[in-house]
Amino acid sequence: MRVFVAGASGAIGTRLVAQLIDQGHEVIGTFRSPGHGERVRALGAEPVALDLLDARAVRDAVLRAGPDAIIHQATALAAVRFGRSLDRSFAPTNRLRTEGTDALLAAAREASVGRFVAQSFASYRYAREGGPVKTEDDPLDPAPPAMARETNAAMRHLDEAVTGAGGIALRYGGFYGAANDGLVKPVRKRQFPIIGDGTGISSFVHLDDAAAATVLALAHDGAGLYNIVDDEPAPMSQWLPALAEALGASPPRHVPLWLARLIAGKGMVMMAVGSRGASNAKAKQELGWTLRYPSWRQGFAAAYASDPVDGRAHI
Ligand SMILES: NC(=O)c1ccc[n+]([C@@H]2O[C@H](COP(=O)([O-])OP(=O)(O)OC[C@H]3O[C@@H](n4cnc5c(N)ncnc54)[C@H](OP(=O)(O)O)[C@@H]3O)[C@@H](O)[C@H]2O)c1
Repeated sequence: MRVFVAGASGAIGTRLVAQLIDQGHEVIGTFRSPGHGERVRALGAEPVALDLLDARAVRDAVLRAGPDAIIHQATALAAVRFGRSLDRSFAPTNRLRTEGTDALLAAAREASVGRFVAQSFASYRYAREGGPVKTEDDPLDPAPPAMARETNAAMRHLDEAVTGAGGIALRYGGFYGAANDGLVKPVRKRQFPIIGDGTGISSFVHLDDAAAATVLALAHDGAGLYNIVDDEPAPMSQWLPALAEALGASPPRHVPLWLARLIAGKGMVMMAVGSRGASNAKAKQELGWTLRYPSWRQGFAAAYASDPVDGRAHI
């Protein structure tokens, strides 16, 4: 297949391009930052500079490439500092998930592209009620915290626009598996505490497994939503100490709810304490997905194992 990957130079994009090429696909990969084209070329793809928020440029790039499939992996979180408002941190990403998705879908229609797969997100989105683990059929949170409303709306827009057009939206778990994963620095510095009793559930996925599921989704007929998460949704009280240990960091601090509300805000605390995890049963059954890292327990250890000589992570 001739595959157009938007966001080919990023954390998931680079792993995905490598796996696509490995399986005999021809890849046109977009990048945004100057210099990142070389990264895409080195993987064996044809690099194209593209701003997804420029709908005209998106149209031209897709028509010129003439792909059989489009995969949307563009986000803008690499240099973000997470504060009290998730919506502020995610604002550029939210535009990529709304305007960027719409531009790609319009171009796909015009170029008669048969397949469309896009990055969505599973954690912190399902309704904070009932059991701890949710399937794709379970309702999303009808009233997300005020500071995350736009972010939730952008993901919902992507899910609906993509599946409405006959494509597949992949609700990934929290990505890990790269030396610069978002959680690495704060956990090393003990700036990421267990909030309250740490009962909020998170779902994770190793970047290599996420890329493998994406390649499988490309071969799947029909529209759909899939949770792409590992086998072990887990409370913060379990995964955070394990992550700290894998990183060789001191154990995480504990912060009571009242203090976390003051420092991080009410919304963040609501998400941390009430969040639900996601089930991967549908992706396994319908996509035939198997995981190299079925649990973050092995995954964290493998991703962050240090070299005894130079202390570098083996990624
Ligand atoms: N994905 C999530 O939902 C999420 C959530 C929380 C935390 N994080 C953390 O954020 C870090 C990774 O950031 P990321 O997920 O944004 O991935 P990333 O690794 O920075 O990749 C994003 C991709 O989108 C491209 N891109 C950015 N702006 C674009 C635009 N306007 N038009 C077209 N393409 C554009 C980037 O191009 P260039 O590389 O050329 O700039 C890159 O290819 C990781 O540490 C991860 O743990 C991610």
